[in-house]
Amino acid sequence: MSKKVFVTHQLPGERIHDLAQLCDLNVWMGPGLLPASELAAELADCQGLVCLLTDRVDRQLLQACDQLEFVSSMSVGVDHVDVDALSERGIPLGNTPGVLVETTADTAFALLLAAARRVAEADNFVRQGSWRPENAWAPDFFTGKDVYGATLGIIGLGEIGQAVARRAAGFGMEVLAWTRSGRSVDGVESVSLEELLLRSDFVSVHCALTADTRNLLDADRIATMKPGAVLVNTARGGIVDERALAAALVSGDLYAAGIDVFEREPVPEDNPLLHLPNVILTPHIGSATTFTRAQMADIAVENAIAALKGRPMPHCVNPGV
Ligand code: GLV
Ligand code: GLV
Repeated sequence: MSKKVFVTHQLPGERIHDLAQLCDLNVWMGPGLLPASELAAELADCQGLVCLLTDRVDRQLLQACDQLEFVSSMSVGVDHVDVDALSERGIPLGNTPGVLVETTADTAFALLLAAARRVAEADNFVRQGSWRPENAWAPDFFTGKDVYGATLGIIGLGEIGQAVARRAAGFGMEVLAWTRSGRSVDGVESVSLEELLLRSDFVSVHCALTADTRNLLDADRIATMKPGAVLVNTARGGIVDERALAAALVSGDLYAAGIDVFEREPVPEDNPLLHLPNVILTPHIGSATTFTRAQMADIAVENAIAALKGRPMPHCVNPGV
C-alpha cells in the first residue's frame, strides 16, 4: 500500500508531479493557509508531511500523528518545528538552504537602501498628493542617510550574510561581522557583537532563530548601537525586541529600520513598528521571487521523495536520526 503524504499548500515547481506518482498525495487546497487545528486531523494517518514555515510542528502535533515518518519544510529556517521532538522519534526534517541565498540578500539590501533613503515614505508622499509647490524640492527635502562608504555590521555570517557582504563591497562599505561560528571571510572584519553595534551605521541580521539568538537584540543591546544607525531584519522576528526597537526609532536614537520578519506573523495591529514613518515594512518576503520559490518547492519535494524511498534527504536538518 502506498504511503500517505500531506502537503499543507499548493506548491510551485515541477517535482510535485513526481511525488504524486510515488505516494497517496493529499494537498490542502485552501483558501488561504491551513488552520493549525486542521493539521493534526489531516495528518492523523499520514507517513509524510511537506509543510511551510507558517505550520507549527510541535510535540502536541506529533503525539496525534504516530505514523509520521518524515517532515519536509519548504523553508531554510526551521524555528517553526520542534527539531528535538522529531529527532527523539527518529523523524528526519528536511529544509531548503542554498537556493534562496542571493534572493534573500537582495531583499536585505533593498530594505537597507529603502530605509536609508526613505523610499516608502517618499512614495507615500507623492502618491497622497502632498508634493505641491508649497512643499517641494528644497535643500533638505527628503534628505536621508548615505549608504555608499558607510559601515555595515552583519550579524550571522552564514551564506546569506556573506551574500550581503558581497553586495556591500559594491557600495564601498566597510563590512564588519559577528558570528558565533567564528568564521572569517575575505574583506569582512570579524568583531565582537558589542563592537559591531558600536561601530556600524547599518546593522543587518542574518542568523537563525534559536534559543541562543532569541531576543539577541534586546533593549540593552539596541541602546549600545551607534546613534543614528539603521537596523535591517530579514532573518526572524524573535531575534529583535520589537518594542525596544520602536522606542529607539521614536526617540531618534536609531535613524530607521527595514523589517521583513516579525515576532508574530501576520503582524497584529498593535505592533508599534506599524505606526512609525521611519520603518519600511514587508510581509516576510525575503525569498519571494517566482524562480526561487519554485526551486525551494522542488528541494522540499526532493527531500520528501528521498525519505519515501528510504534514502537520506539531500538537505536534512537532523541527519543523525
Ligand atoms: C524563510 O524565511 C525561510 O526560512 O525559508
Ligand atoms: C538633483 O536632482 C540635483 O540636480 O541636484
